[in-house]
Amino acid sequence: MPEVNIKFLREYFGWLVHNRKWFGTRMIVQKLFVDFLLVTGLDTFLSRSTRWKLAHEFHWRWKVMCLAVNGEFGYNKISDSTSVDSFMNFYGTGVDFSGKVLVDVGCGIRGCLPVVLAKEKVGVDPIIGVLSGKVNFPEGKYISARAEDIPLCDDYADVVVCSNALNHFEDPRKSLKEIYRILKNDGVLLVQVYIEPKSISHTFEFTLEECRSLICEMFTPVVERVGKVPVIGGGLVVEELRNIPARYGGVFKKKLGLSVL
Ligand SMILES: C[S@@+](CC[C@H](N)C(=O)[O-])C[C@H]1O[C@@H](n2cnc3c(N)ncnc32)[C@H](O)[C@@H]1O
Repeated sequence: MPEVNIKFLREYFGWLVHNRKWFGTRMIVQKLFVDFLLVTGLDTFLSRSTRWKLAHEFHWRWKVMCLAVNGEFGYNKISDSTSVDSFMNFYGTGVDFSGKVLVDVGCGIRGCLPVVLAKEKVGVDPIIGVLSGKVNFPEGKYISARAEDIPLCDDYADVVVCSNALNHFEDPRKSLKEIYRILKNDGVLLVQVYIEPKSISHTFEFTLEECRSLICEMFTPVVERVGKVPVIGGGLVVEELRNIPARYGGVFKKKLGLSVL
């Protein structure tokens, strides 16, 4: 929890007032409500689905704001955590998946699709439906759906990417089961999870160990990484994104023979 002092409160309320035009009064009040519940530890009384709906609305409005304020180039620079750098330095895989089918689950409005080469690139995110017609999607196939219920057939993908998204989902375990289902037996999962506090847009807070054991229920690490989160600059850092201590993830293979469906 952030240290609450006069400076923090001034910045916090300043941010709300300044950004009301992007989020709307109702969302700002909802954010205040959720932040109050988070600070008092009462957020667990909200149902998972209510909690997720609030996160979802905040998040898509936040993305619209980022795009409008920073433009296409600036947005990609500051808001896309699925960067070439992630592939090269975090996963250590490179970005060339020519001949492979790649699915980015929780891709947002860009995800890794603009930075990777692949035979087929598919992005899955519920934000896509809300924002289609409002923003331009880059090259690739974008499907508006939730990770908990991915409308792709079994064994569809050679590569699944899930970057900075697992702690945004309504049900991370169910989502990993869906990823398991759509991933071919010899496919790879590239995942990174920021180990960050719960907030309006982060529905879950994992410790590093919780995150690891959840992923390892169904997947075996091939390359495991614990890293610092790259600093996001550009004057648009909302308070939730400060002081993120670490990210966990890497490259994973399916544990074969599990009946997770
Ligand atoms: C921090 S953004 C990360 C976007 C992108 N992966 C990246 O690295 O830039 C988290 C994304 O998770 C998405 N998300 C939240 N709940 C989801 C769900 N149930 N299924 C799929 N995606 C979801 C959000 O819409 C948001 O685009």
